[in-house]
Amino acid sequence: MVEVRAKKRKVLIVDDEESVLELLEDVLADEGFQVRRAENGREALDMIARESFDVVLMDIRMPEMDGMEALRRIHEQSRKTGVILMTAYATTDVAIQAMKMGAFDYVLKPFDLDEVVMVIKKAVGVQEMAGELDDLRLQLGQVYQPGTIIGSSPAMQEVYKTIGRVAASTATVLIRGESGTGKELVAQAIHFNSNRHQGPLVKLNCAALPESLLESELFGHERGAFTGAVGRKTGLFELAHGGTIFLDEIGEISPATQAKLLRVLQEKEIQRVGGTETLKIDVRIVAATNKNLERAVKEGAFREDLFFRLNVVPIFLPPLRERKEDIPLLAQYFLSKYSREFDKPVTGVSPEAIRLLNNYAWPGNIRELENVCERAVIMAQGRFILPEHIPMGIQTEQLGIDLEVTRSRLPLKEIVADIERQVILRVLEETNWNRTMAAESLGLNRRSLYAKMKEYGIEG
Ligand SMILES: Nc1ncnc2c1ncn2[C@@H]1O[C@H](COP(=O)(O)OP(=O)(O)OP(=O)(O)O)[C@@H](O)[C@H]1O
Ligand SMILES: [Mg+2]
Repeated sequence: MVEVRAKKRKVLIVDDEESVLELLEDVLADEGFQVRRAENGREALDMIARESFDVVLMDIRMPEMDGMEALRRIHEQSRKTGVILMTAYATTDVAIQAMKMGAFDYVLKPFDLDEVVMVIKKAVGVQEMAGELDDLRLQLGQVYQPGTIIGSSPAMQEVYKTIGRVAASTATVLIRGESGTGKELVAQAIHFNSNRHQGPLVKLNCAALPESLLESELFGHERGAFTGAVGRKTGLFELAHGGTIFLDEIGEISPATQAKLLRVLQEKEIQRVGGTETLKIDVRIVAATNKNLERAVKEGAFREDLFFRLNVVPIFLPPLRERKEDIPLLAQYFLSKYSREFDKPVTGVSPEAIRLLNNYAWPGNIRELENVCERAVIMAQGRFILPEHIPMGIQTEQLGIDLEVTRSRLPLKEIVADIERQVILRVLEETNWNRTMAAESLGLNRRSLYAKMKEYGIEG
C-alpha cells in the first residue's frame, strides 16, 4: 500500500514479555527496521524523550505504566510518532478507546506476524507522508475560516481577480456554475469585499417559492394586497437597502416576475405588491444560476433584456473536475474544518486517498467533496485519511463496477456483498492470487481476506 523507502526506520517495541520482544525484534530487523526495545510504558517514555521513533509498537497490559497511559503521554509530547497497540483482549471497548486516543492501529495477540509487519509499514508510510503534508498545510496557513474560498487553479485565480475588480463598484454580477461549485460563497465574497460590507447581505433562493409569494417576498406588500395580507410587509429589496441582495437560481423566475425585476434594475425603484408608492432603493444585485440562460433566452423562457442587465459582469465557476489541482488543497481545508468540529486530530490525506479523490468526476462538485471529507474524518482512526475512509461509490466508479445492480431491488446487504465479492475476485486476479498482496491492496489482514473468500466461496 504505502511504499517504504530505503532509509532505515526506527521502531520501538514495548512489552513486558521478553519472548515477545525477541520475536518482534527478529522479525522487524529482518524487514529492515532499526529496532529498540523497552519493558514498560515508563521506560518507553524515557527513550522517546531522548530519541525519536517513527513507530512505537506497544503492549497494553504492562506493569509500571500501561500502554494506554503511555499512549496518552506520548501524544502530549508529539503526535508525530505512530503508536500501534497490542492486546490479547479483543473487546470493542479497548479497541474503540485506543483509536479514540489516537492510536494508529492495534493488533491482536497472538500475532499474525504478517499483519504486524503490514501495519508497521503502513504507519511508517504515514509518517513519511506527514512531511509532504506539512508543506501543503503551510501553503494553506492551516486554518479553517468560514467564507474562505479555496483554490489556486488558474480558473479560480481569474475568479478572485474578477471579484476584486467588481467588488468596489455596484455593477450587477451574474454567477454561473454547476451545483455545488461555490456560487453562494462567491456572492458572499463580493459583498464582504465591497464598500457595502457593513450593509446587509440578503439572500433569496428564487426556486424555493411559488410566484405569488416570491413577488411579495422581494417587493413586500401593502395591507389587503391579497387574501391573507393582513399587514404591510417589507420586501427583501427594502431590507437590502445600502447592501447587497443575492438572488439565487434566478433562472427559475416567471415571466411576470422577470418583468418586475427588470424594472428594478432599470429604475432602481420598487413598488410593494398592491401599493402605488414608489420607493427608491440602493441595492447591489448579485444573481446566480446553474441554468444555461442563453438557451432559456433562445427558447423564450427568459427575457433577453433582463439577461443583459444581469450579466453585466459574468463570473463562471468551473466544475471541480476541470480544476483537479485544487482537490488536495480543498480536502486539506475541509479536513481542518471537520477535525476541529469533531475534535479529532485528523491532519492529512494519504496519497492513495488523494488519488481516489482525483480520479473521481465529482458531479456534486465541492459540496460533494466536503461531504466526503466530513465522513472521512468521522471514519478515520488515526491522523490520516486512508482509502478505506473514502465511500465505496467513489472507489467503485474507478473500478468500473456497474451500480446498475441497485435497480435489482435486492436488499442493500446482498448488493454490497455482491460488489464485495467482485472486488475481492478482481484484486485476487490482479495479484495473481497472491493473498498477502491482495489483502494489502484491500486494506485487510490476511485472516480477514481468507474469511471473506470462504464466505463468498472463492477458491484459489
Ligand atoms: N472554493 C471553495 N473553497 C471552500 N469551500 C467551498 C468552495 N466552493 C464551495 N465551497 C463550499 O461548498 C459548499 C457548496 O458551495 P455553494 O453553496 O456556494 O455552492 P453553489 O454553487 O451555490 O451550489 P448550488 O447551485 O447547489 O446552490 C459550501 O459549503 C461552500 O462553503
Ligand atoms: Mg447555491
